[in-house]
Amino acid sequence: MASRLSFSRIPEIPVESFRKHPRQAPLFAVPPLNLRSKCAHSRTISSSRGDFVQAIRAVREEVVQSPISESARDSETVPSSSSKLVLVVGGTGGVGQLVVASLLNRNIKSRLLLRDPQKAATFFGEQDEETLQVVTGDTRNPGDLDPSFFEGVTHVICCTGTTAFPSKRWDGDNTPERVDWEGVRNLISALPSSVKRVVLVSSIGVTKFNELPWSIMNLFGVLKYKKMGEDFLQNSGLPFTIIRAGRLTDGPYTSYDLNTLIKATAGQRRAVLVSQGDKLVGEVSRLVVAEACIQALDIEFTQGKIYEINSVDGEGPGSDQQKWRELFQSAQTK
Ligand SMILES: NC(=O)c1ccc[n+]([C@@H]2O[C@H](COP(=O)([O-])OP(=O)(O)OC[C@H]3O[C@@H](n4cnc5c(N)ncnc54)[C@H](OP(=O)(O)O)[C@@H]3O)[C@@H](O)[C@H]2O)c1
Repeated sequence: MASRLSFSRIPEIPVESFRKHPRQAPLFAVPPLNLRSKCAHSRTISSSRGDFVQAIRAVREEVVQSPISESARDSETVPSSSSKLVLVVGGTGGVGQLVVASLLNRNIKSRLLLRDPQKAATFFGEQDEETLQVVTGDTRNPGDLDPSFFEGVTHVICCTGTTAFPSKRWDGDNTPERVDWEGVRNLISALPSSVKRVVLVSSIGVTKFNELPWSIMNLFGVLKYKKMGEDFLQNSGLPFTIIRAGRLTDGPYTSYDLNTLIKATAGQRRAVLVSQGDKLVGEVSRLVVAEACIQALDIEFTQGKIYEINSVDGEGPGSDQQKWRELFQSAQTK
């Protein structure tokens, strides 16, 4: 059910308290599931990185400064934190970190599926186990995706990816074929039919990977494999929304490491363009992509739809659901 935000009631992300408070509880306590050895029982939070703390703060500022529609103000409703459990896959990536930070900001429960659970501790600090859980797995390995990981999950946001061209991030065969195709296929295959929505971050140009200039980006198959992942999701029978991002800004265009988020501020690029039919060409702020993913979870008519998204200078929708509704709707009527 759609819900609107009331920023006055958004709880503080306890970023300041991450290192000040004594460590009391498991930081990323495993839910009461039989997660066995695949689960992360990360108990340490000691982070030498102030970077993400800053980034979370930046996200928060962004949200707080976002314009709120009259209707949203009037409704004074907050998202029900108890009704959703969002599985975020790729939550340590550029877009994924922003998704997680934004879910935290909204008091929406999330479960992160990560290759390295320590990264969650480093990035997200001390969080209540009810709010943030971590399970460990590599999407390339179907055997890693234990069914217990998906128990209770109501929604999924997948923002996994790797570099389009060979880089250190391909180490261990973490190539577009393995991540964007096989990993997405494995994940989709492992999800229970009860999930209410699967949002997959893909890329503009996937339908034109043989055409210039897309064929250059596709030299190592990234667009082709992303399209294969999209198709698999589309044919899975699961309720889905695909968000095809333009070239990502507010972070490195091509992410090589976890510094992605450090520069993640939306800048002036807040006005959002949404389209359909893979006709859009341009760039988009990672913050905008993260927000689009979260909005799509609640906007019923985005189910079964594919959207391209860019952002340009100007005032944006922020987290106003009514404005996002209008953006998605207008894309469909063009
Ligand atoms: N860069 C662009 O201009 C551009 C344009 C259009 C679309 N996109 C797409 O937008 C999405 C977000 O991009 P981004 O640059 O923000 O992301 P990113 O920083 O590249 O992050 C990728 C995420 O995927 C995870 N991941 C990679 N391989 C994995 C595996 N085998 N199993 C589990 N998780 C794995 C990474 O986890 P680790 O921390 O373990 O590495 C990381 O959390 C991606 O799908 C990307 O392809 C990017």
